[in-house]
Amino acid sequence: MKRRLCRRIGAMRTRLFLALAIVSAFGALLHIQVVDAASFPAASGHGGAVASAESVSTEVGLDVLRAGGNAVDAAVATALALAVVHPEAGNLGGGGFAVVRMDGQLASLDFREIAPAAASRNMYLDPEGRPIGDASLIGPLAAGVPGSPAGLFELHKRFGKLPWTQVVNPARLLAAEGFPVTSRLHRSLSSERETLERFPETARVWLPGGRPPAIGSRMRLPALAATLEAYAEAGPHALTSGPVAEAIERVSTKHGGLLKASDLESYEAVWRQPLTFDAFGWRMASMDLPASGGIILAQTVGLLESLGWREMPRFGADRAHLLAEVWRRAFADRFLMGDPASSEADSKGLLQPEWLAYRRSTIQSDRASLSAAIARWPESLPTESSDTTHIAVADGSGNLVALTTTLNDTFGCRLLVPEAGFFLNSEMDDFAASPGRPNLYGLIQGEANAVRPGHRMLSSMSPTLGWRGSQAVVVGGRGGSRIPTAVAQVLLHLLVDGDPLQTAIDRPRLHHQWLPDILRAEADALSPETMQELVRRGHEVEIWTRDAKVNAVQVLEDETFEAAADPRGPGSAGVIEPIH
Ligand code: DON
Repeated sequence: MKRRLCRRIGAMRTRLFLALAIVSAFGALLHIQVVDAASFPAASGHGGAVASAESVSTEVGLDVLRAGGNAVDAAVATALALAVVHPEAGNLGGGGFAVVRMDGQLASLDFREIAPAAASRNMYLDPEGRPIGDASLIGPLAAGVPGSPAGLFELHKRFGKLPWTQVVNPARLLAAEGFPVTSRLHRSLSSERETLERFPETARVWLPGGRPPAIGSRMRLPALAATLEAYAEAGPHALTSGPVAEAIERVSTKHGGLLKASDLESYEAVWRQPLTFDAFGWRMASMDLPASGGIILAQTVGLLESLGWREMPRFGADRAHLLAEVWRRAFADRFLMGDPASSEADSKGLLQPEWLAYRRSTIQSDRASLSAAIARWPESLPTESSDTTHIAVADGSGNLVALTTTLNDTFGCRLLVPEAGFFLNSEMDDFAASPGRPNLYGLIQGEANAVRPGHRMLSSMSPTLGWRGSQAVVVGGRGGSRIPTAVAQVLLHLLVDGDPLQTAIDRPRLHHQWLPDILRAEADALSPETMQELVRRGHEVEIWTRDAKVNAVQVLEDETFEAAADPRGPGSAGVIEPIH
């Protein structure tokens, strides 16, 4: 489906003449939209805030806060509720990252999937080196070893306040008693029908009678309810050993996969040092490798700040040009990244002042660089020195949680483990599965991210926290390579230009990822004059409709909580009043 979409978007590419014709025809109108893009106000309250992809899961998170749970309790309960009501991305069969500030302590948890022990570098290539169909995306060969069962449990074990069973129970109830099928879920099932049908195990549950369940009908998931009950009682071992792990191995083997029960048993979530940096007077914490999002974000704000971003006119060509130039370089550096054990560069090197100064020195203010000519770290350092879902929660005690979890593509690899009731991910495509060729998100990736058994595949996820005095922001999103660029723009609108939260999320965005060498713009992101000027500077500009979906919460100076979801996708945000 996404491949088809990409092709459609490719066909929609608006090159110079077409773009200019359209924008000059609707010039005045477009200009107004750029300035006035906000839709509706964020939810606002004083006791805590939750934003997630679905209203049912946001409500679960808010209920947990009302019951006296902290931000981690709420985030984990929300994630588990998403695993039931948002099967496209919410998961037990996937993985993710969490960045938290709990009781003043900063921490980040990596529960990213790993390649199974039997995986190998060229497993997605035929003997001639050509990619084998869609093996890295559809079917269990695409699945990494799930990290969510261990990750969500570990996050709660270290920071949760309520009993584990109380945190899992809302999701178990949703699965056991059922939830209404929304028009959104019906639509996703319909558009993925062809790939879901390939697996009878999946079709039996999600395409009963050969079609998606009717909008408004009640969906009960008894196998998933039983899995969640076992998880509530025994923690991750209920899923990573015994009958569930055996069922995963059985269905994976049946459809040509490599996952073994022993892979599940040996999986461990890892606490890592959060990536901290300053941005326009705010302190930030994001995810380091194996997520690339934090490094891309830190490079972006670091370079923009030193290049005078704050003083440049909003929505003008200078700012758009700088974003393209900075991202072109940051995503070129991404080529070197991978699991920390195989990465050819790390946050320490890529954020060192000398490297940022060198990058800065190569940016011309009036001319686009060519992506093909961007040199990579460290050869050119002149002086030698050394379908995703984001949950944002803030509670009334100053705790913050940014948690992004994913199956990669919508419904992961489309294969449902029948006895367990959940989908397996398609995260193996985030490796350089077919070196030199673009992945699902058009990313060209390097040797550092080649498939290696037991290693984590590089991610673009960017769960991020920011704070200044009593103010705080929690932000993240879904959308593959578009996540870090979207998160950066939302933060720039908030921290530099003082937009209200919802406006910052609503505003049309830009995206550049080094290769392809194209500046992508949502339909009304650029005024006709700005687009014309960017083209004059040498940018190829393409209008597209596929930007990331960002969910965020914010704590204002007067201790008002705001929560906002992205109107581009499913999303729901809510707040509570203080509990006494
Ligand atoms: O980790 C990554 O970068 C991707 N697997 C994220 C996938 C994603 O955001 C899908 N959502 N639309």
